[in-house]
Amino acid sequence: MRPCLSASLMCADWLHLVPTLKALEASCGALHADIMDGHFCKSLYLSPWSIETVRPATKLPIEAHLMVERPEDFLDAVAAAGADCISLHAETIERQAFRLVERIHALGCRAGVVISPATSLSAVESYLDRLEMVTVMTVDAGFAGQPFLPEMLDKIRALCAWKRERGSRFIIQADGGVNRKTYRALYDAGVESFVLGSSGLFGLDPDIHAACRLMQTQVAAALEEVGP
Ligand code: DX5
Ligand code: ZN
Repeated sequence: MRPCLSASLMCADWLHLVPTLKALEASCGALHADIMDGHFCKSLYLSPWSIETVRPATKLPIEAHLMVERPEDFLDAVAAAGADCISLHAETIERQAFRLVERIHALGCRAGVVISPATSLSAVESYLDRLEMVTVMTVDAGFAGQPFLPEMLDKIRALCAWKRERGSRFIIQADGGVNRKTYRALYDAGVESFVLGSSGLFGLDPDIHAACRLMQTQVAAALEEVGP
């Protein structure tokens, strides 16, 4: 099956949000919102308010990727803003993973974990089966346009084997440097959802319709012999 395409809103042109969302609706399966607090990583992009702004303008599901030191402080606001899925960094929930995953489900959202490049799978294995999504960071979190880390392919393969052995339901997502050069390797390793940021989508063409068309051509070329 072809991977779900999730457009990373931090790379979008917010001056032309409505036409951008329309174009994304026709070519992507989800929206990815990077929420930052300036501490977990030294940058600031989106907030719960950004999700609230986008929510009425699209039917696409919104995934919130929380890059914050205290995710527990953001869950209610992100869910109320209209996120469908809330993903927490493994490094921030060590001592409260089960409680926070339960809280996300109680808020009516899907729950995910995000694993930074330097974090190993063993850190999250105990609660993987409670999740709907597992995101493997293929760059260090916080900045668009960084080079893809090929070392992460082994982590994705191991996660995919873990999922297959147990028949787990979570979707495997890759975030960072996902583009025409990496689609095939990520897909072969077991990725089921691509987060498309600067090189995969928004940097392809200043016109969002052209960028979406080019992205679709590149995905199709990379996954040529894969079914629909
Ligand atoms: C990075 C963010 C990504 C970002 C990826 O910390 O989580 O969602 O948009 O951008 P690219 O694809 O440019 O690496
Ligand atoms: Zn992200």
